[in-house]
Amino acid sequence: MGLVQDLAGPLAESFGRLGLASQVAVAVAGFLLVSVVLNVFSQLLFQDANEPPLVFHWFPFVGSTITYGMDPPRFFKENKEKHGDCFTFILLGKKTTVYVGPKGNDFILNGKIRDVCAEDIYTVLTTPVFGKDVVYDCPNAKLMEQKKFMKVALTTEAFRSYVPIISDEVTSYFKRTADFKGKSGIVNICPKLAQITIFTASHALQGKEIRDKFDEKLADLYHDLDMGFSPINFMLHWAPLPWNNRRDHAQRTVAKIYMDTIKARRARGETGAQDIMYHLMNSTYKTGNPVPDHEIAHMMIALLMAGQHSSSSTSAWIMLRLASRPDIMEDLYQEQVKNLGADLPPLAYEDLAKLPLNQAIVKETLRLHAPIHSIMRAVKQPMPVPGTKFVIPTSHVLLAAPGVSASDEQYFPEPDLWEPHRWSKESPLAPSIVRNEPDEEEDEKVDYGYGLVSKGAGSPYLPFGAGRHRCIGEQFANVQLQTIVAMTVRLFRFRNVDGSDKVIGTDYASLFSRPLEPANIYWERRDQE
Ligand code: HEM
Repeated sequence: MGLVQDLAGPLAESFGRLGLASQVAVAVAGFLLVSVVLNVFSQLLFQDANEPPLVFHWFPFVGSTITYGMDPPRFFKENKEKHGDCFTFILLGKKTTVYVGPKGNDFILNGKIRDVCAEDIYTVLTTPVFGKDVVYDCPNAKLMEQKKFMKVALTTEAFRSYVPIISDEVTSYFKRTADFKGKSGIVNICPKLAQITIFTASHALQGKEIRDKFDEKLADLYHDLDMGFSPINFMLHWAPLPWNNRRDHAQRTVAKIYMDTIKARRARGETGAQDIMYHLMNSTYKTGNPVPDHEIAHMMIALLMAGQHSSSSTSAWIMLRLASRPDIMEDLYQEQVKNLGADLPPLAYEDLAKLPLNQAIVKETLRLHAPIHSIMRAVKQPMPVPGTKFVIPTSHVLLAAPGVSASDEQYFPEPDLWEPHRWSKESPLAPSIVRNEPDEEEDEKVDYGYGLVSKGAGSPYLPFGAGRHRCIGEQFANVQLQTIVAMTVRLFRFRNVDGSDKVIGTDYASLFSRPLEPANIYWERRDQE
């Protein structure tokens, strides 16, 4: 006691001699130091044995936000090695429980509706961008009906009509774009694929009238909508900041463009179209009510946004991977010559099934570069983790990361190697899911209200998710990506600018991961040799 008094006196005296600014700085530093010490002690002393291990962190609230945010896959891998498949970390003050591997994917993605909830997490971000009454701004049962409307529009007949639309968009894009004039050149490929993706998706899914508007103002408005998706908006979605004001203006303007288009199409008495907007205009909820125009407009925004980020990032990665492996690009060209004919006739939907390597390119790229690295759910009631003593409390958020098992050597030999040939049964690198492909009957299917989907329980490869929130755009994305790749391969040879086999790093700064930019590649036209 005497020692403390001996020290406290001179300390207080020195503190009093400091200027106000210095006093504030010392007080803040002291406060930080105390909170760090308390935070560290609480982690060392109060680990609850019924909760997954907590990733060590120095600062309360900040927790592991920075290490996670800089490179989520590395963060998952390192902590899986330390703690096993199930662990908790602090993400912006929230206890976030990661459960990786097939069991974790199943636990979270196939979780029961009474246990897990997506809308509680995502609505703050998505509702201002998409608009009211759709996706995460409505009860889950309504979302399931909305997904059904979208999914049933994506028929084989529709896909058959999309392939020529997408091929023509790709060919005409490369013909008219200044960066691809001449015999060869160097280009940052990412923005080019972003444009190709929006032109092809809008034309196929929303009709020519909407596609043409992307040459005018729609592209800028979508860019403003996009800014609403920055991760900071998980906290600041409500704030009257410039980017949020632009987001709100863009949402109103884009929704009006769609609603005017719907009115015009109804007035024309259009019949037999294959785009999703047309299908929604003729869909009815179980209540007997037709889908209101504002909901169709908002679903159009949601669909284009959902598809845009994932498909444009994937197509950019494909082109970058091809530039790093010109031999595979050549294999792709020869596959078309061999299976479709040396004259390379116009591409048809049926042709895609004749090009297994072209299909494998998409699969392998999604294995290593799935654009959605973290899928989150709120916990609605305490969830016991089977086979462990853990119970996840409602104060935690659950996080699934299917990319972890997709790059685990337990399931994929030489997991870091991008090797599309591995998806053939004969390849020595073929993963077990290809070697022992489950029978149709063995593969458990569930209907959440939008048609039968494979449960995916036990699969280490789920780039399109699983369960009630599973992607309904998978087939469209495959058709779109395979067509873009097939058409690009007909026109170009790619390589890295320095001729190496290196591949650029990943940008994790936005919600969807994508290549860092500029991602320059060297292109050379096949037809001008
Ligand atoms: C959901 C991935 C393309 C529409 C999802 C989910 C994933 C995913 C992982 C599940 C999200 C969750 O569980 O929270 C991808 C990838 C794509 C792609 C990798 C392309 C390579 C598309 C396209 C469309 C689309 C082109 C639209 C045509 C949707 C919709 C959902 C969804 C509507 C449902 C959201 C929900 O039920 O909560 N996607 N997607 N996606 N995706 Fe995709």
